[in-house]
Order: sequence, then structure tokens, then C-alpha cells
Amino acid sequence: MKKKTILDILDMKKTGDKITMLTAYDFVMASIMDEAGTDLLLVGDTMGMVVHGNPTTLPVTLEDSIRHTQAVARGAKQSMVIGDLPFGTFQVSAEEAVRNSIKLVKIGNAEAIKLEGGSERCTAVQGILDAGIPVMGHLGLTPQSIHKFGGFKVQGRTEETAKLLIEESKKLEEAGIFSLVLEAIPWKVAKKITESISIPTIGIGAGPYCDGQVLVTYDMLGYFDFKAKFVKRYLNLKEQILKAIKEYNQEVREGKFPDISYSYD
Ligand code: KIV
Repeated sequence: MKKKTILDILDMKKTGDKITMLTAYDFVMASIMDEAGTDLLLVGDTMGMVVHGNPTTLPVTLEDSIRHTQAVARGAKQSMVIGDLPFGTFQVSAEEAVRNSIKLVKIGNAEAIKLEGGSERCTAVQGILDAGIPVMGHLGLTPQSIHKFGGFKVQGRTEETAKLLIEESKKLEEAGIFSLVLEAIPWKVAKKITESISIPTIGIGAGPYCDGQVLVTYDMLGYFDFKAKFVKRYLNLKEQILKAIKEYNQEVREGKFPDISYSYD
């Protein structure tokens, strides 16, 4: 199967085919998602929470992002790989944003980058595009601004903040992003944004009217206990893993594993 590019993703907005995106952090999982035909693999900075165990995404470094993106890229035969710019790697200056995006592509093998924020990021977006790197935007509950929001809170609930989100989406589109993640905003606001711009929107907690959907893979697989309202669990992986590991522990302790059939002559 042919590798997906931004041209395929942009086309899907026109044809009305829904875009699927999932977060990926390692080679094995990326290979499975790729085999399942997922359009986009986002090496999200949620790695800081679900892989590294931090309470927020803020401690993630560029080196973390590069290392995980390399692993995911090795497993992605047809899915397009998006590297995520972590907190502190693009806010200080557009120049730094360009330099760090180049590292994510050159060393991490990302095929596009994602960065959080609105019109304050337009200069950085243009610089990254000038370096030949496609950019995915991210508006709404942008977790790198969690302290500004006072927690993980739904954004765009008032008329004023909803209007601002729509305006910011248009400015990011003008700056040249090829797609836009909308996180934790009312579905009516996400619908309005999706209808107002010509690039695809990809929702997470933003309702059914976006052009595509993304979930944190650990959430949708039920890998751990936390569950937000917008998460559908397609599997209860934690339960299955717990069962398997308890069985292994018991068999080892009882001397049942390994028997001779698992041993070399
Ligand atoms: O970092 C991430 O995983 C993300 C998704 C939740 C969209 O930004």
C-alpha cells in the first residue's frame, strides 16, 4: 500500500472520507496501527503522561519526541507520521520552532509536525513551511497551556471564546497549516469551524462533525483506569493484561511454567 501524504489528507476533506488518526509512541504499536489502515499516526506529547507517567505533557523534551518518532516511523509503512513539538521547543521564537521542526523531520523521520496554539504561532508556521515541512495546528484545550486554563477544561463554551476559536482557525489556515486538531470544544463550535475552513479538522472531544477523529491510543484500548467523557473504549486491555500477568505469576510460583515443552534439550 502507498504511503499517505498531505495530498491524500487534503483530498479527504473534498471527498468527505473521514480521516483516522491515533497516537503512537513505539514501533510495535505503530506497526499494528499501520496494518489496520490508520491514516495518521501522531507521536503526541501525551507520551509524557501515558508512557512516562507525568501528570501533564509539559516535561516532554525534543529528544523524547525525536526518539519516539523514530520508533513509530520504522513501523509506519503506509500511515503518515506526525511529530509533536513539545512545550518550550517553539514558543520562544519562530527560528527555534523551525530549527526544532527540522530535527523532528531530519532525525526523527516525521513527515509533518504538529504545534499547539493560535495566531501567535502564524510566523512560526510560515517559517516551518518555508523549510518544507507540513504543519498540523491544534486549538481548543491545548494541554501545554493547562496552567493558563486552570486545568484540563473544555474550551469555547461562551459566544466570545467560540468566535475567537473560529477566527483563530481561519488565521492558522491562512498561515498554511494542512490540518487542524480541535480538542475538547463543544460539537457545535467544531462543526462551525469545520464548515468555515477548507483544510481538514481532526477532533478529540469535539463531536462527530469534524473531518476526522483522533484518540489517545492508551485511552481507546482501555490500557489504564482514566476515562474522559469523549473516550470510547474499544477494548479493556488493562483487564486482559492483568489477567495474563496474574496467571503467569501464579504458574511461575507453582512451578507450572516453564515445563519441558518450553525448554531446550
Ligand atoms: O499529544 C497528543 O497526543 C495530542 C492528541 C491528544 C491530539 O495532542
